[in-house]
Amino acid sequence: MADALPPTDDTPRERPTTLAAQDRTTEQLDVRELHEPIIRERADPRDGYEPVPMWLVTLFGVLLFWSGFYLSRHAGDFRADVLDEDPAVLRGAGAAAEGPVDPVVLGEKLYKANCTSCHQRAGQGVPNQYPPLAGSSWVTGNEERLRLILLHGLQGPIEVLGKRYEGNMPAFGQRLSDERIAAVTTYIRQAWGNAAEPITPGSVALSRDANQKRREPWTAAELENVKPPPAPTPPAEPAEPDTTDEGK
Ligand code: HEC
Repeated sequence: MADALPPTDDTPRERPTTLAAQDRTTEQLDVRELHEPIIRERADPRDGYEPVPMWLVTLFGVLLFWSGFYLSRHAGDFRADVLDEDPAVLRGAGAAAEGPVDPVVLGEKLYKANCTSCHQRAGQGVPNQYPPLAGSSWVTGNEERLRLILLHGLQGPIEVLGKRYEGNMPAFGQRLSDERIAAVTTYIRQAWGNAAEPITPGSVALSRDANQKRREPWTAAELENVKPPPAPTPPAEPAEPDTTDEGK
């Protein structure tokens, strides 16, 4: 049997001679054993230093999550034109302090904040991704279609300036008031060389009311069939021969 064991130093283990040496050995051997009861037994919590109960940790976790969610939903990107009720902010520095907000000034701010990420600064869009607004008949044409696109969004194939796009345009009906939708649509109808009539907040309110049940975005095909609103009786003008072929 002993043969099987690896050759070892035959000399018997030296007994520790001095007390100190004996101590060291016991320490080495028993250090784990010695500590086991200490590790097992936790010290009694001192008054005021008890561990935080689990339910409180959970509560704070939930609160933290909720407040983050709330902030991201309602903080409006911390933009002045969202949070500040003072219309002077919307008018911009240097503008007249009194009087109604100029829809084009407001519209430009709203456009920069809500639309440039896709349609770009100059309304030129992004090839094959986001259609242009500059020169688009969807913008300058039938204003009811434009109001509906803004209110409920748009999806599916659409042709703009001879190019086909297929994407998702988000709805702004929940995010922007009638006045703001009117302002931003008026702005895009008059910017970058576009020249169409302004859109009034009242007309946005009418479109909104008439389509209260609408939840899903429009498709271009649906909007093709939307009739332009009856033209408000124009101020009496000398009749001109109609040479345009807009009606098709
Ligand atoms: C997330 C990107 C995105 C944002 C933001 C966005 N749009 Fe669009 N928009 C699109 C896409 C994509 C289409 C085409 C939808 C389709 O293919 O049916 C579109 C189509 C349109 C159209 C009709 C097509 C055209 O080019 O004339 C108008 C008008 C329009 N958007 C206006 C706006 C306005 C105004 C805003 C800001 C209030 C805005 N969009 C914000 C992506 C966006």
